[in-house]
Amino acid sequence: MSDIEKRDLLAIDDLVDDLPDIIEWAIRYKNDTEFNQDFKPLDGMSIGSIYEKPSTRTRVSFEVGVHKLGGQPLTLLKNDIQLGKSESIGDTAAVLSRYLDGITYRCFGHADVTELARTATVPVINALSDLHHPCQSAADLMAITERGKTPGHISWVGDGNNVFHDLVLASAAMGHDVKYATPLGMEPNEQVMQRARQIAEQNGASITGTNDPVEAVSDAGVIYTDIFVSMGEEHMSDKFAAFEGFQVNEELVSHAHPDYAFMHCLPAHRGEEVTDGVIDSKNSIILDQAENRMWAQMSLLTYLCNNDAWKTYRDLI
Ligand code: CP
Ligand code: NVA
Repeated sequence: MSDIEKRDLLAIDDLVDDLPDIIEWAIRYKNDTEFNQDFKPLDGMSIGSIYEKPSTRTRVSFEVGVHKLGGQPLTLLKNDIQLGKSESIGDTAAVLSRYLDGITYRCFGHADVTELARTATVPVINALSDLHHPCQSAADLMAITERGKTPGHISWVGDGNNVFHDLVLASAAMGHDVKYATPLGMEPNEQVMQRARQIAEQNGASITGTNDPVEAVSDAGVIYTDIFVSMGEEHMSDKFAAFEGFQVNEELVSHAHPDYAFMHCLPAHRGEEVTDGVIDSKNSIILDQAENRMWAQMSLLTYLCNNDAWKTYRDLI
């Protein structure tokens, strides 16, 4: 076990100072096809991923990304392990820390990934909780950075949820202005927003909230939405009624900058929060976002599990 204090990624705020470098690293690494064949910073390491909720992108991008970095990925589905049945988070974390070099965890309550990080002696990455989705935001800001100059602010239309929390934190860290529209009563977490405003101020960016989608998307360079009812909220189907007028459709996007990018973390519920015409349009960058989950997580894994190798490559670029 190394003497260096381990670091975790529970919310993107945990790595906010290095986020621009983490994203730059991921972009260079993605395009550096000759170098990235031989760079194996996770050689001899094993990374376990625990899932309490379903996943397509997160699971596959972690498995393939760890493999490409020379490590061994292990996927631990909740129904197949003792966690939550006959074993506590603390005991699970302590035992897994004896086998693994890093743990990713997709859970319901954010307190659970916080507890896993507190009790594990290896780095823990939040692979989505009810409050944060940091890996998604790293990939999203990577996709926005790859497009070059964003013609206007980043807008959010929909629920003030886990994806939005890390998007606004990461956007503030990267100096982007954000305008978000949520229905009354679906506003984001106030503690997260206070921190986002603080980061934005440090980076000369602004954050504006409204309940009017047209106001949020007018002249926007990015329009981002997500499903209205998240995993774990299935019993709250009455939430849908509040989102009347919040669908991202052809009429709403007509208020944005002509070169706006449409973004969605996926999975999308077509016909609910977004129309086919928008999600399949030339403005849509949803597949770049999905691909970048892998590259951004490779940068994050190297940063957390082999920081010397991460710095060595950073200093080369
Ligand atoms: N965006 C995202 O986290 O997708 P999955 O739920 O498929 O992992
Ligand atoms: N807000 C969504 C994101 C899915 C990737 C959820 O938590 O279900």
